[in-house]
Amino acid sequence: MVVVRLVNVTKVFRTGVVGVKDINLTVNHKEFMALLGPSGSGKSTTLYLIAGIYRPSSGKIFFDDRDVTNVPPKDRNIGLVFQNWALYPHMRVYDNIAFPLRIKRLPENEIRKKVLETARMLRIEKLLNRYPWQLSGGQQQRVAIARALVKEPDVLLLDEPLSNLDAQLRISVRAELKRLQKKLGITTIYVTHDQAEALAMADRIAVINNGRIIQIGAPEQVYTKPATVFVGGFLGNPPMNFVEGEIIEDKGKLYIVIAGQKIISPTHYEPIVRRRGLRKVIVGFRPEDTMILPECRDRNECVKGMVYAVEPMGREYIVVADLGGELVKAIVPRTLVLTDDQEICLCPSLAKIVLFDPKTEKSLESLAAEKD
Ligand SMILES: Nc1ncnc2c1ncn2[C@@H]1O[C@H](COP(=O)(O)OP(=O)(O)OP(=O)(O)O)[C@@H](O)[C@H]1O
Ligand SMILES: [Mg+2]
Repeated sequence: MVVVRLVNVTKVFRTGVVGVKDINLTVNHKEFMALLGPSGSGKSTTLYLIAGIYRPSSGKIFFDDRDVTNVPPKDRNIGLVFQNWALYPHMRVYDNIAFPLRIKRLPENEIRKKVLETARMLRIEKLLNRYPWQLSGGQQQRVAIARALVKEPDVLLLDEPLSNLDAQLRISVRAELKRLQKKLGITTIYVTHDQAEALAMADRIAVINNGRIIQIGAPEQVYTKPATVFVGGFLGNPPMNFVEGEIIEDKGKLYIVIAGQKIISPTHYEPIVRRRGLRKVIVGFRPEDTMILPECRDRNECVKGMVYAVEPMGREYIVVADLGGELVKAIVPRTLVLTDDQEICLCPSLAKIVLFDPKTEKSLESLAAEKD
């Protein structure tokens, strides 16, 4: 039973660069936590802090109630897979996997048993006599994971373990890895910059940017209720659309004016919009929650736009629409026939619209939560 907890952890490198700032993160027992963010956001730094390779400049790290802040990596019982797997090139697969057990000075027959068992689990038992250069990328990656798992770690730390694989292999290995993690029940922190991977694999996602954790939540929650414009724009393919909106009141009802046309403001936003006296907002809506109609029937739920381009994606079409000079995307069924420059009606699902404060770029929900 291991819960990993980071409390106000900051890492400033000797160069003065801030790696991560004031990180608070709890990863529950058996949980699969994805640490998701763009390049340079502090993902590896966070992982190395948990591993003990880096020491925090301030803050504390706990494994359960044990303060491990100053405990060296070898005494933390972690399994770590580095960003660039780094197998020992002069050792056969067998010896690569056996290495952590030899350091522990386990008897050779016990080592043999554990290596075979782990290799079987990762389906690399036929490769044990090969050298790393005789393996494909996907096989090397499995060996690296086997080496991390063989010592039955309390915490599994994976730094972009699939990033060097081609797209198809990545998708098949990610399902395997997810199953394996559930089966073994090891508390896992998985670093990735690939939002699809994080959504597909994780129990919860921690989104990190500029060394700070922006939002932590279940995939569904982070996806549908992004706490900031950054999160909405980082998750999803295509990402969330954002347009400027102005709040107006007409006969006691609130509306949002987008590209000179008014739509009804989602009712659940009414209290906070009124309380804060907000005039301007950023309106976020996802391409898959946006309907395209040939023309608008005046119900104040849609806005007129023009077809800028149509991208056939196989299963569906992505319509790029010009909305008063701003480009937004909608995913539509293949049956819809559209031509460039055609006038269309764009209807974002009112229930799924997310409003953001333009000053802080935080969602109105998260601003409201801060207050309470
Ligand atoms: N050893 C180091 N010394 C000085 N600065 C560092 C060191 N390691 C990382 N940094 C800096 O800290 C910041 C965070 O780096 P980190 O490696 O954690 O990013 P990352 O999210 O893992 O990125 P990537 O996706 O590219 O691997 C970056 O600005 C980076 O340049
Ligand atoms: Mg990294």
